[in-house]
Amino acid sequence: MLEVKDLWKRFKIPKKGIVEAVKGASFTVTPGRIFGLLGPNGAGKTTTLRTIATIFSPSKGDILYKGKSIFDDKLAHRKRLGFISGNTGVYDRLYPEEVATYFGRLNLVEDHLIKSRFKEIVEMLNMGDILKSRCGKLSTGEKQKVSIARMLINDPEILILDEPTNGLDVISSRTIVNFIKESKGKGKTLVLSTHILSEAEYLCDDVGIMHKGEMLYSGDLKELRSSYKDIPLESVFFKLVGEEI
Ligand SMILES: Nc1ncnc2c1ncn2[C@@H]1O[C@H](COP(=O)(O)OP(=O)(O)OP(=O)(O)O)[C@@H](O)[C@H]1O
Ligand SMILES: [Mg+2]
Repeated sequence: MLEVKDLWKRFKIPKKGIVEAVKGASFTVTPGRIFGLLGPNGAGKTTTLRTIATIFSPSKGDILYKGKSIFDDKLAHRKRLGFISGNTGVYDRLYPEEVATYFGRLNLVEDHLIKSRFKEIVEMLNMGDILKSRCGKLSTGEKQKVSIARMLINDPEILILDEPTNGLDVISSRTIVNFIKESKGKGKTLVLSTHILSEAEYLCDDVGIMHKGEMLYSGDLKELRSSYKDIPLESVFFKLVGEEI
């Protein structure tokens, strides 16, 4: 279980002053359930996800995994974690399998495991037809699949996905959405952000709705929907966020 407790993140920008990107967010991500962060641009979603990945340290508050602060041993936390965003790097000159192998070896995954995992990933993400192209020649969606392969080669317990289907066509999006569902079945701890409310509705068990750094709701998506008499999630979203605009 991953617990975000009263998380604050403040950036100091020279000449501009202080940006309060996250103001007291609290939520729990339960293994085998998908947690989705929703919110308009600048709400603080990416900042929250980057802090869960220990790329940022909190200004205040803490994040616990299995009851212990992830900041006590960042290296151990990073080993069990996979993080992707729209701009996760793939090396243009390498082939997809070389990217996965490189990252697997960096994480000391044995070669026979890299091979068997890569085979599984290729099937799951339907990547067979891009294996003979260098990454630099791939489309956005194809590169995103390589990023996911790079992440999955380490078989991480925790998956952090920042807008994983951003910019992808419906077919690639569906492949990635299916992979997320499959990971849920494997008991992974999954937290993602998305702007696509239909995707959130289909995927998420729990949601956190953020606006201007504040968490307006966090918890069970069905409970949220029923407390608004099951109106569409988009309308719930506008009601929650609209009150703040
Ligand atoms: N590294 C940084 N340095 C300074 N300010 C930052 C930094 N990262 C984010 N911010 C600011 O923090 C706020 C929240 O940004 P964040 O990227 O977390 O939003 P978001 O919810 O992911 O938005 P989007 O939907 O556009 O991706 C914004 O005002 C942004 O300008
Ligand atoms: Mg973002």
